Amino acid sequence: MPSSRAPDGSRYSLRTASDRDWRDLTRTIELSYGGHPDPAEVHQVNKDLFEPERSLATYHRDKICATALVYSLNMTIPGGIQPIAGIGYVSVDPTHRRRGLMSEMMANILHGLHHSGTEPVAALQPSESAIYSRLGFGAANQVVRLEIPRKPHAFSLLPRGEDLPATIIDPQTCLDEIRDVYQANVPQRAGMLHYDKRWAAKAVLDPPTARNGAAPLQCLTVSEAGAPAGYALFTTRPQDDSPDPPLAVLVRELFATSPKAYAQLWRTLLDLDLSTTVIAHTRPLDDTLLVLLDDPRSAVPTVRDQLHVRLIDVDRALALRTYSAEVDVVIETTDRLCEWNVGRWRIQGGPEGASCTRTTSAPDLVMSVRELGSAYLGGISLTQLARAGRIEEMRTGALDAACRAFRTDPLPFCSLMF
Ligand SMILES: CC(C)(COP(=O)(O)OP(=O)(O)OC[C@H]1O[C@@H](n2cnc3c(N)ncnc32)[C@H](O)[C@@H]1OP(=O)(O)O)[C@@H](O)C(=O)NCCC(=O)NCCS
Repeated sequence: MPSSRAPDGSRYSLRTASDRDWRDLTRTIELSYGGHPDPAEVHQVNKDLFEPERSLATYHRDKICATALVYSLNMTIPGGIQPIAGIGYVSVDPTHRRRGLMSEMMANILHGLHHSGTEPVAALQPSESAIYSRLGFGAANQVVRLEIPRKPHAFSLLPRGEDLPATIIDPQTCLDEIRDVYQANVPQRAGMLHYDKRWAAKAVLDPPTARNGAAPLQCLTVSEAGAPAGYALFTTRPQDDSPDPPLAVLVRELFATSPKAYAQLWRTLLDLDLSTTVIAHTRPLDDTLLVLLDDPRSAVPTVRDQLHVRLIDVDRALALRTYSAEVDVVIETTDRLCEWNVGRWRIQGGPEGASCTRTTSAPDLVMSVRELGSAYLGGISLTQLARAGRIEEMRTGALDAACRAFRTDPLPFCSLMF
């Protein structure tokens, strides 16, 4: 039972959710996220993904006033695809905020994951960056929004050659092709989610009431040697209040299995008649597009954090991933919420695998579990964190060696909101 009390002095009760809670849960979620009711198809997709036995609801009297959903995800981490706990739809009714309900639910989830011995790592995509760091989550990667003026000859340095066969169709009619190309990309980058049909349905959701003046979602596909080689989910929207051009091309998702297919998709999108701008909402920080463009400066970037990672069990989590270089380092960690992580951990590993064991040896590096979460996927450099005063180096050279081992190339990225 949460220790905090409601404004009327009564107690809250925290329970595992059940299927019957769905309607009340979504009411609280919608209210917390601004009051817009989700369209029916969004409800259905979210309901299909709902795992009641893993999710929490806080009750005030007999009404839900706070929620936290847990998803069983499979995410690429350095070295392979592993189960991780995805946390989403953390919401607190505005009339019950700042009473510790979110903190109580999150502590309950983190302790529950430890005691059940299931996923050693949890991840979320926070609506605001500052919410979860106090709970030991570290911002683990950055993504970039790119706004690019229309470019008829955007990649003139690239040999053009024959165009691949391309078509623009309704995404619902090419779900298999999308899935094949997407799944081929999953192992390429840490942070990517291996998804089943339910998550695939979420990726192409396009309820008319949520289009905000944009055309229905379209899928540009290209094929190579008769097989799907790339797709872009995109739409167009008038730039001003008039329904007429000029249009902005909005790119939701773009994946390819070859450099040629990748370049052709972007070349097509960057030169659509009647458009003036391409807006790619969420791209990897090291997106290939940035080195394809003749004029990369024309692409206006807005950088933000995306995945926040929490190590549930430091030893299991650090032994689960591989390392880019051989490493043998003792890390002393602090953890305000999960005391079983406090102590010194020896990590020995490399590209083939790793072990992480408790030790009494002197520490080489000292940091909190939050910094380990930031470095976990290889997207944030330990050296950068040390320069910010968030990591202390106790043995000269240890920081540099650990930094090289933890980093990954390409940088982490997650294309799907969970
Ligand atoms: C974000 C939200 C879940 C927080 O719930 P809450 O029950 O009010 O949070 P708590 O009372 O447990 O807050 C714990 C701490 O986090 C801080 N905090 C809460 N929301 C914060 C925010 N948006 N930004 C920064 N800090 C925040 C609180 O000030 C408090 O700090 P303290 O420990 O120093 O006093 C709630 O405000 C909400 O539903 N917001 C709208 C939906 C949303 O953004 N959800 C998150 C999706 S990932």
